[in-house]
Amino acid sequence: MKRRKILVGNWKCHKSFDEAITLIAEIVANVPLELDRTVVLCPPFPYLAEAVRRTRESPVKIGAQNVWQEDSGAFTGEVSAPMLASLGVEYAIVGHSERRQFFLESDECLARKVARALAWNLTPIFCLGERWEDREAGQTLAVVQRQFQAVFALSAETTTSLVIAYEPVWAIGTGRNATPEQAEEVHAILRGLAMERWGSAVGEAIRILYGGSVKASNIDTLMAMPNLDGALIGGASLSAAEFLRIVHFQG
Ligand code: PGA
Repeated sequence: MKRRKILVGNWKCHKSFDEAITLIAEIVANVPLELDRTVVLCPPFPYLAEAVRRTRESPVKIGAQNVWQEDSGAFTGEVSAPMLASLGVEYAIVGHSERRQFFLESDECLARKVARALAWNLTPIFCLGERWEDREAGQTLAVVQRQFQAVFALSAETTTSLVIAYEPVWAIGTGRNATPEQAEEVHAILRGLAMERWGSAVGEAIRILYGGSVKASNIDTLMAMPNLDGALIGGASLSAAEFLRIVHFQG
């Protein structure tokens, strides 16, 4: 099955507003309308409204880096799915390993975030991945399976727009990416789990991105793997030239 590839730039906590606007302009100018892949930029929250405005005439989509697990209420500092939807934001990263590590986000809270995003027609990019000590202990599959099962309560119908991002924690920001074969092994297993849970049509259609030290120099070999449907790019998405080379990967 041909799945449309998705390239997502996760800017994390980087860039001033002016720098962000410049980066958006450089990317928009170099992503043609007829491109056969989806490009998503995830700037910090305060820049989202302007980012949506500046990408409106282009195929570039805008995503948030996080979303709150309730629609509204007394939750100082949080931003909810209906708020993002009201801005024209179309994607939301959920459960990035930095959120799990520094903000102690649990499987249960992440399941709620995914459900709220889907309820408001935001496409959740649900991140999971093992730490180095898990891999060394032979626990990679057990860890990613447990993390994935957090969203197994979702029905098959709601799951069609779910995007998974496999991001081994040891590969994030380290310059040490998983090899294409290491990533493919986990992606194939995740797809198998999705098929078991939601049936073969959903399992075949679900997009599974790879993240962790993706660069212009390794994107082509990663994207050549049959179960890698795109990439979540951190550091390399902060430079227009590097990110555009990734977007225009060969294949
Ligand atoms: P990196 O980050 O590309 O800088 O490794 C990826 C991510 O955290 O999404």
